Amino acid sequence: MADGLEGQGPAVATLVTLVRPARRIVAFTGAGISTESGIPDYRGPGGVWERNAPPTLSDFRDNPETRRQYWRDRRRNYPTLRDTQPNAGHVALARLQRAGLLRSVITQNIDGLHQKSGIAGDTTFELHGTAHVVRCLDCRATWPAEQIQAKLETEPLPICEVCGGPLRAATVLFGESMPETPLRRAIAAANACDLMLVVGSSLVVQPAARIPEIAVASGARLAIVNHDPTPLDDLADVIVRGSAGQVLTELADALLGDDQAAGSG
Ligand code: APR
Ligand code: ZN
Repeated sequence: MADGLEGQGPAVATLVTLVRPARRIVAFTGAGISTESGIPDYRGPGGVWERNAPPTLSDFRDNPETRRQYWRDRRRNYPTLRDTQPNAGHVALARLQRAGLLRSVITQNIDGLHQKSGIAGDTTFELHGTAHVVRCLDCRATWPAEQIQAKLETEPLPICEVCGGPLRAATVLFGESMPETPLRRAIAAANACDLMLVVGSSLVVQPAARIPEIAVASGARLAIVNHDPTPLDDLADVIVRGSAGQVLTELADALLGDDQAAGSG
């Protein structure tokens, strides 16, 4: 059972004690690590799913108006997402990886902020895909998001130039399976780690939320940094009810000392 549940205050000291001996740390992140970059989460207060229903694959495929609305929203919103910067939480994880303490990051996020903060691309496993690539739902051809974004002025409902199929961001919709390679690599990382550090996830979406359970089943310790309770809290060795940016910065500062001054992301 977790100790370090000291009320609302972050139990960073307990977290540092747990993380310090670990040599094969894997982070598992959710939307909560990006809220301090200005990207709303889904189920926290004011989250995206509080305001509108999650999109489903069948709704997107069957309903041209849904696709039209999607591309109107994306034409307006994508430039903001493209220009969003990593926050202190992302930077702290990148510091831990540069110091050789963090092996990889398994993320449910589609914002690309882990790679932008310096986490090596081949050690970032995006379980729910990425908003920075556009993919044909039929032939799976892909394009960089910018290339399609540039066409939206003249083509408000872009279609695949290979097969004429419908295009959408290469993110996983409810009803779609997760991309094979990131999932396989995430499961392998969970089996090989000695500590899984969950940051900013409600851990309610399956099968992604099974990954930390796989890590625990293979003998890893579990730390959860999250504003709200999660279904895996009982499995955690430590729970820190604090903000990802502050907690991860304090963790990196404590583990790395001065040889990697804070924020040298
Ligand atoms: N610091 C710590 N925790 C935070 C912060 C923060 N700054 N901001 C939000 N949180 C916590 C919230 O309390 C919440 O429990 O992060 C969690 C985010 O949970 P969700 O919004 O459910 O996001 P996530 O777990 O990533 O959702 C998983 O669901 O909708 C799908 O595909 C979508 O990838 C997403 C998946
Ligand atoms: Zn196609």
